[in-house]
Amino acid sequence: MHQILSRTQYYIDLENKYGAHNYHPMPVVLAKGEGVYVWDVEGKRYYDFLSAYSAVNQGHCHPKIVRALVEQAQELALTSRAFYNNVLGEYERYITKLLGYDKVLPMNTGVEGGETALKLARKWAYTVKRVPENQAKVVFVEGNFWGRTLAAISSSTDPSSYSGFGPYMPGYVIIPYNDLTALEKALQDPNVAAFMVEPIQGEAGVVLPDKGYLSAAYNLCQANNVLFIADEVQTGLARTGKMMCCDHENVKPDILILGKALSGGMLPVSAVLCNDDIMLCIKPGEHGSTYGGNPLACKVAMAALEVLVEENLADNAERMGHILRTELRAIKSKIIKDIRGMGLLNAIEIDCSEDSPMAWNFCLKLKQNGLLAKPTHGNKIRFAPPLVITEEQLYACIDIIRKTLMEFEATL
Ligand SMILES: Cc1ncc(COP(=O)(O)O)c(C=O)c1O
Repeated sequence: MHQILSRTQYYIDLENKYGAHNYHPMPVVLAKGEGVYVWDVEGKRYYDFLSAYSAVNQGHCHPKIVRALVEQAQELALTSRAFYNNVLGEYERYITKLLGYDKVLPMNTGVEGGETALKLARKWAYTVKRVPENQAKVVFVEGNFWGRTLAAISSSTDPSSYSGFGPYMPGYVIIPYNDLTALEKALQDPNVAAFMVEPIQGEAGVVLPDKGYLSAAYNLCQANNVLFIADEVQTGLARTGKMMCCDHENVKPDILILGKALSGGMLPVSAVLCNDDIMLCIKPGEHGSTYGGNPLACKVAMAALEVLVEENLADNAERMGHILRTELRAIKSKIIKDIRGMGLLNAIEIDCSEDSPMAWNFCLKLKQNGLLAKPTHGNKIRFAPPLVITEEQLYACIDIIRKTLMEFEATL
């Protein structure tokens, strides 16, 4: 018998056969995106409640960012840093003035931003703090996630990230998250160069520290001559209701890492920002990237930042996030254990173990009802739509979530 495959199954089979099996996607094949919506290859429309892990804060295919991409692609896309180009300097001035730093170092992916921040911190430790050669340490917290390179997984406490990939990067100290006593103790070591932290742990399941943790941690770093590195790759760029999540506690990190929404989802663009006393520790030839600072990325990043500012997306995230959490908390559900978040970086925690399929099955039901979300660490589901979502759209999403919960609980 000749079996006729659905278009969806055709594309899933294709990826399974020819692609590495390093992901476990939801069974939906997307073909189009606009604002808060995506469409699958069968033509069904969904609300996107993941936003490509907060890379499309500005909404899918934002016209201003698409225009910047297309226009610059027709002029000049890549020069490498062997030569100057006529866009990089303009972008560097724009982003540093906007975010209040002396300088920026442009890279591509988020994890490269993290690597760059750590190289800067080590260089600073040797040249300014006078840490003995090769002795510099960096303090991380449990549950951190900053990507998949060997340096990044070496700081991971999640076995699925690090197992089987050793040996690991030396010079790391891991302490519990949200624990100022542990931080204070770790910073006693004179060889500590930096403390690197996500203001809210995204991949760990939207884990928020206590109020005051970030500012107290920053003060401890200051007191001990240790750099405070904020990984705002997921929390930054208006996602949590302010331009940076650290802004909620008036903390200005010594080194700031950005990625994801810096391009509004168009192409990989990341950046590390800091002041001259740190940035100028790295000299010509000591760090770089062929694509970092390419004119295409710079034009796109400028447009992506302008959209955040012009459309007041931080304020919208704050307002919509408040509505979302209030409405979700009003739903009487037997399976929701916790609802938490800040701005539009939210999660619900399902009352089941991390290895239970319940959250996955609930996401499948949400998909059927027209909303896409995916569990992280088994039982936590991120609710992080594009920040351009309107109140009307948000209430439509809340209706879908409420209805799906009722249907799902009826089957238990
Ligand atoms: C906080 C944080 N840092 C860094 C990264 C790595 O970014 P990329 O996947 O672009 O390398 C991520 C990705 O999810 C992240 O959430």
